[in-house]
Amino acid sequence: MCKAKIFDKSYEIVSNKEVCRGYFELKVKAGSGLKHCSPGQFFMIEVPGVFLRRPISVHYIKKDTLSFLYKVVGKGTTILSDISSGEIRLLGPLGKGYDLGICKTFNHVIVAGGTGIASVYFLAMKLGKKGILYYGVRSSKDLLCLDKFEKLGWKIKVSTEDGSKGHKGYITDVLEKNLKSNDMIFVCGPVPMLKKVIEVAKFKNVKGFGSFEEKMACGLGNCQGCALKVNGKIKMTCKDGPVFKIEQVEL
Ligand SMILES: Cc1cc2nc3c(=O)[nH]c(=O)nc-3n(C[C@H](O)[C@H](O)[C@H](O)COP(=O)(O)OP(=O)(O)OC[C@H]3O[C@@H](n4cnc5c(N)ncnc54)[C@H](O)[C@@H]3O)c2cc1C
Ligand code: FES
Repeated sequence: MCKAKIFDKSYEIVSNKEVCRGYFELKVKAGSGLKHCSPGQFFMIEVPGVFLRRPISVHYIKKDTLSFLYKVVGKGTTILSDISSGEIRLLGPLGKGYDLGICKTFNHVIVAGGTGIASVYFLAMKLGKKGILYYGVRSSKDLLCLDKFEKLGWKIKVSTEDGSKGHKGYITDVLEKNLKSNDMIFVCGPVPMLKKVIEVAKFKNVKGFGSFEEKMACGLGNCQGCALKVNGKIKMTCKDGPVFKIEQVEL
């Protein structure tokens, strides 16, 4: 669990480059204050000319580099992708990340859909023990970070909706066939995928954690805009999450 302070300050941009069509990696100089930042946490990124900051997960922190991996989808990320130097204002690290302490005895299974891969790479780095990555995307041209997971020694199962690589269809079909009782799931992806993973996990009596990326405005628990029902109670995804136990989330 992260004990890091929340900072609201400007960071020097190291680079902001397109790593694959429509996907960018932003690297900033992190300094020493972010050592305790945990996988699953995120920052609200201030984009010039845009009213609300945009939430983006920590892709990784290595030495003094803080990295974000993002897809260009709308106004904020389009403007962000045009910035290549100077400084950028970030609020964070925010939210509660994955609790790594209780996962040691299980087989680690990461399930990522689309840009969900961005935050789970930091998780794979920190988990220590290797596991299996189940990674689903629309097409092979959307596949990111495979080399990074390979370098960490993870086994990788891929699915594409158009059949251009790996299993044709959804990655949850592959997960359903292979999930074992002593697996522990870590999932990040779009809501339909999260729903299916929760269903499969319940059926197989497997526990896990999911990162739930609700639309966010403040990122601090003040606007009530990111409410999610967890264990029968309303929780703020930005403050109480974004990581929750999957068996407790009602989507
Ligand atoms: C905790 C968290 C972590 C995230 N991490 C990543 C990441 O690592 N990489 C990545 O590519 N994307 C990530 N997202 C999604 C990302 O925040 C949105 O794609 C981005 O805000 C879209 O902004 P836009 O202005 O380009 O699009 P627009 O659609 O124009 O955005 C309009 C508004 O909706 C919000 N919004 C739109 N889509 C989303 C979304 N899917 N989730 C949350 N808010 C949204 C924006 O913040 C903004 O306030 C994350 C979202 C959350 C909540
Ligand atoms: S984004 Fe404002 S309460 Fe969560």
